[in-house]
Amino acid sequence: VEDRTDVPAEDKPLPAAVKAKIMNLVPLRGQRIRVTGWVDRVGSLHPEHPQEQGQGNDAISILLRDGTGYLPAVLGGDLAKATDATNLKDETCVELIGTLRAKGTVVPKDLARDGHELVVDSWRVLGNAPGADKAFANRVNKTSPSTLADQRHLTLRQPTPSALLRLRAHTLAAFRATYAAPAHAVLEVTPPALVSTQVEGPGAELFWLADYYGVRGGACLTLSAQMYLETCLAGLGDVFCVQESFRAERSHTRRHLSEFTHLEAEIAFIDFDGLMTHIETVICETLEKLLADPTSTALLAQLNPGFTPPSRPFKRLPYTDAIAWLNARGITHRPKADDDAAGAGAPYVLGDEIDEAAERALVDDHGAPMFLYRFPASVRPFYMKQVPRAPGEGTVWTESCDLLMPGVGEVVGGSMRIADMGELLAAYEQHGVDPAPYYWYTDQRGYGSCEHGGYGLGVERFMAWLANRYTVRECSLYPRFPGRVTP
Ligand code: 4AD
Repeated sequence: VEDRTDVPAEDKPLPAAVKAKIMNLVPLRGQRIRVTGWVDRVGSLHPEHPQEQGQGNDAISILLRDGTGYLPAVLGGDLAKATDATNLKDETCVELIGTLRAKGTVVPKDLARDGHELVVDSWRVLGNAPGADKAFANRVNKTSPSTLADQRHLTLRQPTPSALLRLRAHTLAAFRATYAAPAHAVLEVTPPALVSTQVEGPGAELFWLADYYGVRGGACLTLSAQMYLETCLAGLGDVFCVQESFRAERSHTRRHLSEFTHLEAEIAFIDFDGLMTHIETVICETLEKLLADPTSTALLAQLNPGFTPPSRPFKRLPYTDAIAWLNARGITHRPKADDDAAGAGAPYVLGDEIDEAAERALVDDHGAPMFLYRFPASVRPFYMKQVPRAPGEGTVWTESCDLLMPGVGEVVGGSMRIADMGELLAAYEQHGVDPAPYYWYTDQRGYGSCEHGGYGLGVERFMAWLANRYTVRECSLYPRFPGRVTP
């Protein structure tokens, strides 16, 4: 019937509709398609084409959203007169069927996307959304951060949060592709989140489980998968993981979360210089992959239009030079409990941790990613490889580095690990760490120990840098920080 010329057009069956996601529509132009999604916005018609194709003034234009993109659509003629259509509210879930017309002209410019629009011939509501007081816009257009955080399940639908989370997914995929490339051949593993050793620092940062199979205080949530990754080297070669880490930090800063996504890698047969080069290479190759992908490029352009990838090599500044730089500029420790304010505290001396604000002052002045390296052992965990002490040298230095990014500060922390059994035993003692729970960590040094190093990258901090966000909270699906564990 479709091809017969003696049958009136309105009696011919419509061609079957192809089900498709919005991001895949370009090759389907001119065809009849079926799309499902949410009404992002109901708009008015383009003022220059109010009567186009028999669609009266009451034709309705819709911006449909399905998570992969946005599609303008128009309901004309009788379709626009039905109550379902005239009552259509933002965030209604719908199925639309119609012909995809290239060079959209009917929908207004602010709804136009990708140079095509859907001329709907049939549609249905799959899930209604309310209007009036309960309308979506009334739920999400709040200014108080805590009210907004309570509505995270709804605000995720908005353009900026959804773009950020999509870019985050593409970024993680690009990291994975970089590690998988034969030049790196770093294997992904999934270490445990329930652990019994603390890795990083004093017990204060740990989330202890009240009860683990009847044992009180028997387990805690992981701070870092590093030690587990180290155990993989001899069996699996170089490894990485993307794993949630948990820190019971009390600090309310714009770059600290209680739960964050930790991208960690451990590399064997590398030296300290090579480790920093590896970190910089992985980041730059990941950015190259991201920028070669049109979807990621568009998301990045939406979120951070000014982004230019950093050039290599990254600057490497010894810790001692950083302290001198801060002193020369009169940048002092922060006053207590104010992470964002520089100054008004004591001047920096060798052996101090560098505060968040001072770190940002350093890297913002440089204006590009930079390594700080060789921190004193006194402010670093016990597992870090120590630099042999020069005659007369008081401080013990470590082969450790932090990668700082403008606007954020520390995004990566890494180091060479102590490979020698005797040195490791001495380090436990130096740091007052009971070696008993670490028997498995120590054990490896007796079975073919090798020089190795690794690092952890905070995914939310990386995204805050990449997408130019003020806080890491925006870069997490459901951020957790002191006082916030809902939704
Ligand atoms: O410097 P950190 O504590 O290093 C480690 O945990 C090492 N064991 C990693 C390793 O060598 N495998 O943490 C590494 C990174 C930091 O640079 C930061 O980006 C991120 O993890 N990070 C946090 N991100 C958000 N909120 C927090 N509370 C974070 N703590 C660390």
